[in-house]
Amino acid sequence: MATFLSSVLLLVLRTYAAPPEYIQVWPGGWTPGPGEAGNETVTPSLVPPPGTANHAPHSIIIGVRKGGTRALLEMLDIHPEVAAAATEVHFFDWDENYVKGLEWYQEQMPYSYPHQITVEKTPGYFTSPAAPARIRAMNPSIKLLLILRDPTERVVSDYTQVYFNRLENRKPVQAIERMLVKNGALNTRYKAIQRSLYDVHMRNWLQYFPLRQIHIVDGDTLIRDPLPELQRVERFLDLPPRIQASNFYFNQTKGFYCIRSDGHERCLHESKGRPHPPVNGTVLRQLRSYLRQHNRDFYRLIGRTFNWH
Ligand SMILES: *[C@@H]1O[C@H](CO)[C@@H](O)[C@H](O)[C@H]1NC(C)=O
Ligand SMILES: *[C@@H]1O[C@H](CO)[C@@H](O)[C@H](O)[C@H]1NC(C)=O
Ligand SMILES: *[C@@H]1O[C@H](CO)[C@@H](O)[C@H](O)[C@H]1NC(C)=O
Repeated sequence: MATFLSSVLLLVLRTYAAPPEYIQVWPGGWTPGPGEAGNETVTPSLVPPPGTANHAPHSIIIGVRKGGTRALLEMLDIHPEVAAAATEVHFFDWDENYVKGLEWYQEQMPYSYPHQITVEKTPGYFTSPAAPARIRAMNPSIKLLLILRDPTERVVSDYTQVYFNRLENRKPVQAIERMLVKNGALNTRYKAIQRSLYDVHMRNWLQYFPLRQIHIVDGDTLIRDPLPELQRVERFLDLPPRIQASNFYFNQTKGFYCIRSDGHERCLHESKGRPHPPVNGTVLRQLRSYLRQHNRDFYRLIGRTFNWH
């Protein structure tokens, strides 16, 4: 019974992410801001709000893992014409979900009004060999959002997340240097490094989508100064400009921006913005120099540069 109830609750949380008039939910990764105890959360009914339906996404945030996809989705969700999926759906990258079909996929989307656009984010899509062709098969004109940050930093962040997950699950952990170095050389087969080869993954996407359909968000800038990046996303998605400077406030303690919207405040979950472990300088330099050529190839592919080290 308890299991059943919690799956119903999960279903409800997942399906009811959209219309703020009906319900306030705090999707995974976010916590209510000050003065927003859980009691203010309205328990939704199972009936969809009149005039709403599940729609396949108009835009997908495809990655990258640890690039700031959660922050981007939550910030975009400030926009009244955006309905954001609360959970990572993993439809196009996990075969066991893909076989359930497009109807299943659509059911995972939040209820939205006809004037809203639905946005889903699953960071695993960017590095999935199968995802680009599958997404194209669903909708060849879909708009894709890709948020990236310095690929070396991303490796360390990726390691840090796995490290804490393993600690929580009481699994053995290893120092980052043990993962990065094998037999005295950089272990380029380490998954966290593989995921930072942006050029390799981008080449796969560009076989299925023209570059103009993939908008790249600078994740380092988004964290420092969210508004300009979000305004670029609004333009890319043909949304009227609605996100404003007043939707953000800087939390000195956390060291990053929180969101103020519809009279509510919310911040990224504590697991976001965790401090990174110190990394042996020699190993870090090896990693940087290995990624440098990949970065240059990536800049050439997209006709734009970033100041990654
Ligand atoms: C939430 O509601 C319960 C029951 O009404 C109450 O006991 C509790 O103190 C409330 N919690 C907060 C944080 O307001
Ligand atoms: C800022 O962050 C701290 C630490 O997470 C939190 O306790 C506090 O409530 C936040 N303040 C605001 C105004 O969001
Ligand atoms: C850092 O790594 C290099 C090469 O793997 C090693 O020779 C060096 O002793 C390490 N430095 C520290 C401070 O551990």
